[in-house]
Amino acid sequence: MTSFKLAKQGVQNFGGGWTEDKLKSVQKYLAAYATIMQKQKFKFAYIDAFAGTGYREQKTQDKTSSESLLAADLAGEEPQKFLDGSARVALKVEPRFDRYIFIEKNETRFKELEGLKSEFPDKAKDIQLINADANTFLKDFCNKKWNAHRAVIFLDPYGMQVHWDTIQTIAKTKAIDLWILFPLGSGVSRLLRRDGQIDQAMREKLDNLFGEKDWYDAFYEKKKQQSLFTDEVSVEKVASFKSIEKYFVSRLKTIFPSVAPNPLPLYNSKNVPLFLLCFAAANEKGGPTAVKIARDILRKK
Ligand SMILES: C[S@@+](CC[C@H](N)C(=O)[O-])C[C@H]1O[C@@H](n2cnc3c(N)ncnc32)[C@H](O)[C@@H]1O
Repeated sequence: MTSFKLAKQGVQNFGGGWTEDKLKSVQKYLAAYATIMQKQKFKFAYIDAFAGTGYREQKTQDKTSSESLLAADLAGEEPQKFLDGSARVALKVEPRFDRYIFIEKNETRFKELEGLKSEFPDKAKDIQLINADANTFLKDFCNKKWNAHRAVIFLDPYGMQVHWDTIQTIAKTKAIDLWILFPLGSGVSRLLRRDGQIDQAMREKLDNLFGEKDWYDAFYEKKKQQSLFTDEVSVEKVASFKSIEKYFVSRLKTIFPSVAPNPLPLYNSKNVPLFLLCFAAANEKGGPTAVKIARDILRKK
């Protein structure tokens, strides 16, 4: 069975126009990065820590309409389009990277990734597949000597799976450029209840994501209401999509020397910014150039 057929069985069904924007931005950066790095002395890798299957299914609006089903039937095709996921996008980038590391926790999806080796035989020996939790793997992987190595990491979770201490470990390498999908409308904003009554489990999720507890004071304000006998204090949510974005960018700035100031909001069809595509560079010397390239890519949307 070809890898394409295998991939279609376990293919991931996600994303819309915003998925396209996300992958195009990363693709453009990888091409620019590899062009610069091939002239330098470093070995450089692409690390995809939430790699998926390598494919994604594009949901077409008219997928179930009788005309599209008929047209697809006549053409001998299924009505869905199977498009490149981030792993295949990276493998097609020219100039090529020295090494590709794909991490996927889900076993079924991980098995689909195997097909990439036969699909890209010239790169097979440089593809490393890891069936593990991204946070656990990266903490160990990043904690090595980076003098002769550089990398781009793409963290593309469904939700709030990336922990702040993982981001911190990446920053500490002083060698990695990071693209990260921050769960704005899909996660954080929904957890920040209007009345501020956030249960312990949700607080811990937010602590893990931001790496500190101060987010509560940034997103809520205490209001005093005077009554005849006592002063009552109530809590009011003051967080907006914009203030959450600013807060996360400021958190990145505490550990990375260079951070793109203009993350790309990725909107769903209801105009909710589900995610922010953010960029930060860990290397002091290369950071400003990296951010200049990333900022331009993010601006062009
Ligand atoms: C949004 S999808 C990734 C899509 C992929 N980047 C692409 O463009 O094709 C997120 C993936 O992360 C995987 N995942 C979720 N939690 C994980 C974790 N802690 N470590 C590694 N992979 C994880 C999921 O199984 C899923 O395949």
